[in-house]
Order: sequence, then structure tokens, then C-alpha cells
Amino acid sequence: MIGTRRVEGYAIISAEGMIADAAGVMPDAIRNNADQKFLQAELDRAGVIVQGRHSHEGGPRADRRRRLTLTHAVTGTPPDPSHPNALLWNPAAAPIEQALAAIGTFDGPIAVIGGTDVFGLFLPFYDAFHLTRAAHAKIPGGRPVFPQVSAEMTPEQVLASHGLRPTPRREIDASAGITLTTWERP
Ligand SMILES: NC(=O)c1ccc[n+]([C@@H]2O[C@H](COP(=O)([O-])OP(=O)(O)OC[C@H]3O[C@@H](n4cnc5c(N)ncnc54)[C@H](OP(=O)(O)O)[C@@H]3O)[C@@H](O)[C@H]2O)c1
Repeated sequence: MIGTRRVEGYAIISAEGMIADAAGVMPDAIRNNADQKFLQAELDRAGVIVQGRHSHEGGPRADRRRRLTLTHAVTGTPPDPSHPNALLWNPAAAPIEQALAAIGTFDGPIAVIGGTDVFGLFLPFYDAFHLTRAAHAKIPGGRPVFPQVSAEMTPEQVLASHGLRPTPRREIDASAGITLTTWERP
């Protein structure tokens, strides 16, 4: 929670826990229609989306959604010239409460959609993290979902170490090996 706001995270990862390749590109191997359908429906009920400057959910309804785009380049919360209904925000220069106040009144959770550092920044605050796994996808040397992910530390271990617990895994596209596990804070 942040104040009275729920915080929920959303990621689709490869077998090794990667969200993108080494060049910062999200490969087709971790793009999936069932996951996109789930994500887009979830983001429709979100109050505000939080993302890094290189992330975006896409889709026809994205421009209607309110969002905070993280960048080191600002001190206040000026409009994001790249996206409508979006403000730029530097967490080192302004607390999240200030950025949320600048967004204005809204209903619904804070939805965190990455990338790596942004997912990591919100680890203490998640009420839920929706982790989709593409079990057949391999992205060697890619960018991890959380900064702590390594050969010794899986994304699931990172979530557990921050107090989140898994709910039953759902097969959202069995033929493609895509599963979705929502981790919740008890
Ligand atoms: N598989 C998935 O679920 C998923 C999810 C998200 C993204 N992706 C993919 O991952 C790739 C991008 O990920 P990424 O991790 O490289 O990029 P990102 O987080 O979207 O963007 C990185 C930029 O965001 C800003 N930023 C991030 N953390 C910040 C902080 N704590 N304070 C201030 N600014 C901060 C910085 O902007 P400045 O340089 O302006 O300071 C940084 O260069 C894309 O291919 C995207 O499609 C995949």
C-alpha cells in the first residue's frame, strides 16, 4: 500500500526471469495474447500506471490512462511529452505522494509495469504482483524482472523475501506454456 492505495505489479518473464534482452528489447518469445488480454483488462481498472521511460503497455486504450513516467531528468512533475495524461517523475527528487497528488483525484490501484529498476523500487509496497511465466522462452543475458534476480535468486525468491506469498498458478495459455501466478501480501 501507499497511503490508502493498493499497489499491483505486472510482468511477463522468460524461464530465467528476464523481461527483455540485453539490448533492452522485449522479444516475441515473451509476448503472449492471453497475457496481454489479462494485462489490458487489469490496467483498465487501475487508477494510475507507473513505468520507466522505456516501458509502455501499448494498445488502443493506453492514451486514456493516467501515468507517471520515471526519469532522472526532472525535479518536479512536468507533463510527459511522449504520452498523453502522463507526468514525468523522479523519485529521488519528489516523494510518490507528491507525484500522486499532481496526478489529481483517481480511483483504482497503482499499477507498476516496469522495467527492472521500477519493479525493484516498489518491492516494499506491492499488495499483489502478477507474475506471468513463459516457460519455453529463453533470454540468456537479458534484463531481469527485479535487480536482485541472479543465478542464485529467482524472481519468486525475491517476491517471497519481500513478504509476498503465491496464490494458485493459472495456466492462461497451456499450449504455449504460459502461466500466471499472483503473489499477494498476507
Ligand atoms: N516483460 C515485461 O513484463 C516488461 C515490463 C516492462 C518493460 N519491459 C521491456 O523492458 C525494456 C525496458 O526496460 P528497462 O528496465 O530498460 O527500462 P524502463 O524502466 O522502462 O526505463 C528505464 C528508464 O526509466 C527511468 N528510470 C528507471 N528507474 C528510475 C528511477 N528509480 N529513478 C528515475 N528514473 C528511473 C530512467 O530514465 P532516464 O534515462 O530518463 O533517467 C531509465 O533510463 C523494454 O523492452 C520493455 O518493453 C518488459
